[in-house]
Amino acid sequence: MATSLQKSEKSEASPTSAADIPIQHTDCFIDGQWLPAASGKTFATINPATEQEIAQVAEGDAADIDLAAKAARRAFDSGDWPKMDARDRGRLMYQLADRIEAEIDSLAALETLDNGKPIRESRNVDVPLVIDVLRYYAGYADKIHGSTIPIRGNYFCYTRREPVGVAGQIIPWNFPMLMTAWKWGPALAAGCTIVMKPAEQTPLTCLRMAQLAKEVGFPDGVINVVPGFGPTAGAAVVKHPLIDKVAFTGEHRTAQVITRDSADTLKRLTFELGGKSPNVVYADADLDAAAQGAYMGLYLNQGQCCCAGSRLFVESSVHEEFMEKLTKLTNRRKLGDPFADDTEQGPQVDQNQFDKIMSYIDKGRQEGAECVSGGQRFGDRGYFVEPTIFDSVTDEMAIAQDEIFGPVLSVLKFDGSDEIIERANRTFYGLAAAIWTQDVRKAHEFAARVRAGTVWVNCYDVFDAAAPFGGFKMSGYGRELGEEGLKAYTESKTVTVAL
Ligand code: NAI
Ligand code: MG
Repeated sequence: MATSLQKSEKSEASPTSAADIPIQHTDCFIDGQWLPAASGKTFATINPATEQEIAQVAEGDAADIDLAAKAARRAFDSGDWPKMDARDRGRLMYQLADRIEAEIDSLAALETLDNGKPIRESRNVDVPLVIDVLRYYAGYADKIHGSTIPIRGNYFCYTRREPVGVAGQIIPWNFPMLMTAWKWGPALAAGCTIVMKPAEQTPLTCLRMAQLAKEVGFPDGVINVVPGFGPTAGAAVVKHPLIDKVAFTGEHRTAQVITRDSADTLKRLTFELGGKSPNVVYADADLDAAAQGAYMGLYLNQGQCCCAGSRLFVESSVHEEFMEKLTKLTNRRKLGDPFADDTEQGPQVDQNQFDKIMSYIDKGRQEGAECVSGGQRFGDRGYFVEPTIFDSVTDEMAIAQDEIFGPVLSVLKFDGSDEIIERANRTFYGLAAAIWTQDVRKAHEFAARVRAGTVWVNCYDVFDAAAPFGGFKMSGYGRELGEEGLKAYTESKTVTVAL
């Protein structure tokens, strides 16, 4: 069944699009000022489509995080931000969303340049979702309140929902702007101040967003952004005594380090980590829709999605028919210059991710899985990997267990409901799961019994700013988005008054 991919001629990343993008901000943004790293050090951020350096960026470390934490602390303890009329806080957030909307084309281009994702995704998916999340939480700013509680005796008892304080936020490179918005939205609505450390692979759009926030009038010190590396700048956020909370998205191993590093200061922690999400296709499903869902659910964003449906279970009786549909879609996927309008898949974010993915492709072959699509590097420049499908995968194989975080799909067969729920849960992750069936009983039973924070029925990757998202088990704790995401940035205070 192995087929060769129909590839578009990979054009050179078009110079008119990439080279024309102005890089305006490469320093640390602290207390409303653009500052080089205290050490004077810088690091390169790379265009993954060409492997060429885009710019040198300030390499913040503990000294810069200290300045940022102090600025955020001042802005929280004695600044206007947490005390200002919540409607005005909301209004500033709406203005930031409007500014981003006005710059949507240049922000999308900057995202594509730094991350490699196709321009049609950054322009039509990422940045619109950024705007939506900021507006959603802007509307919450003046609707955060506690309750009055009838208690025994002659007392008046009520709760207040107060901002948690200075929020440290550490984000990955797969959705740089969107992760910034997921973190800033609830923190700002709640009245927190922010010390953010963007991923070292993709710092540029977050820095641009900081400048836009300054221009619309966010007070100094409310938002601080310090680019740099995890073990230095990231660890300094986690250990800093003036920071109250850490919200982290990334690898579970990093979350374990953060948990240990945060012990001395007992930070509030929320983690959104990886997954090996089961996507289950029953014989009674609409197989065309399921094939489309399986395709998109894995290959979206070059497979670099925490919720990627990377364990695809197909009921044996339709396996052959389904695989035909799926490989047809996959073999048509268009790779190439992420700035070309018709490109569907760009490069992986960096050499490390590329190497990791290629090593899992080797492992899949060694373990005896059957590579029925892709399986090679694409082109000879940039970190491109062909969309790859392994069939005849079994539960124990590394490619069925480990998060690959690339365009590599593992297909497993199953027979019947009892078996599949147990097998779907046979992973230490628990981020997302999906089921394709026309039978509502199967769908609801699966939704109830699968150990995952999000379940999609006859759909995949449906996200909304209002719908909470997060993981069971090693996929994290706490939820982002929705009202639950907002609560993660508040403390509850109980006040009791003798009458
Ligand atoms: P990572 O977890 O190391 O990096 C994510 C962020 O954490 C970056 O900003 C990084 O600088 C920071 N960081 C790293 N070490 C830190 C430390 N000791 N203290 C504080 N901050 C620290 O993930 P990485 O290395 O970029 O990717 C490795 C794998 O992690 C990927 O192949 C993928 O499997 C998974 N991953 C999952 C993501 C998700 O959305 N759940 C996002 C990115 C990666
Ligand atoms: Mg790492």
